[in-house]
Amino acid sequence: SWTPEHFVDSMVLALQNTIGPDDKVILGLSGGVDSSVAALLLHRAIGPRLHGIFVNNGLLRKDEFESVLHSYKDLGLNVRGVDASQEFYTALAGISDPEGKRKAIGRTFVEIFDQEAQKVEGARWLAQGTIYPDVIESVSVKGPAVTIKSHHNVGGLPEKMNLKIVEPLRALFKDEVRQVGDALELPHNILHRHPFPGPGLGIRILGDVTPHKVDLLQRADAIFIDGLREFGLYEEVWQAGVMLLPIQSVGVMGDERTYEQVVALRAVTSVDGMTADWAHLPYDFLAHVSNKIINQVRGINRVVYDISSKPPATIEWE
Ligand code: XMP
Repeated sequence: SWTPEHFVDSMVLALQNTIGPDDKVILGLSGGVDSSVAALLLHRAIGPRLHGIFVNNGLLRKDEFESVLHSYKDLGLNVRGVDASQEFYTALAGISDPEGKRKAIGRTFVEIFDQEAQKVEGARWLAQGTIYPDVIESVSVKGPAVTIKSHHNVGGLPEKMNLKIVEPLRALFKDEVRQVGDALELPHNILHRHPFPGPGLGIRILGDVTPHKVDLLQRADAIFIDGLREFGLYEEVWQAGVMLLPIQSVGVMGDERTYEQVVALRAVTSVDGMTADWAHLPYDFLAHVSNKIINQVRGINRVVYDISSKPPATIEWE
């Protein structure tokens, strides 16, 4: 029967047999479970011949880039962190349409990743953290039906650099990936991290993206996520985040009238992200988060809670 230990042993052997003894492998790391587990497997198989690239798109959670990069280095991974925030903000300037933003982010990611990958001399392979549900989903995205949401990928790099693709997690479901990560001693904070979309906060800022809005949203989001952890609720939900809405509302602060941004809290329970129910979070917790956001994040004066299930709503608002 399937065990994570057996999977690790046989996959490490398979990788060693497939990847030539001098070949280098490039892998894009995102801080998510899948790419991190793929990295640990490859690291075990080929050590520093794995060249990880972790791009900061300026749309990650507060302090995430630094803390995840630190975890990767602690694990002994050969990873290069690339802060490309400004390039992404420039590419996004003035774009409000959700698909337009996804395309701008995807295109910029490919550009930056290509540049970095080309610095790895003698690279022969491109590794990806693709898991089984991604295989299924990309079939339906590319099928005859309309694109629901475009997922960004690696573009034309494999052809351009003559790279072969290696996807060690291609046969696994998410819970199996977590078990494998556990067997490889991936730190708890990465192993149990909620899913987070590739375009990041870019699709949680409704309307156009500016560095100022990113800063507001990062601070509100950190209060929500830290609160979930403090209240022991983080692992009760599948995914959670804050949406910065493109509207302002009237409020009062002392004897001043305010006219500021509104945010929506989103938290869902789910098995696979395909369907989801809004999480029935305790009122006391919601009150705590709402007060803290409004008191601490200048520029936000109203917090609402999203009580929509998927379908017909999606988890993200864009
Ligand atoms: P929706 O909003 O479609 O999201 O219910 C389902 C899951 O997919 C994530 N998501 C994305 N992930 N690129 C990604 O890598 C994207 O463009 C994207 N859009 C949604 C979402 O966070 C949720 O986990």
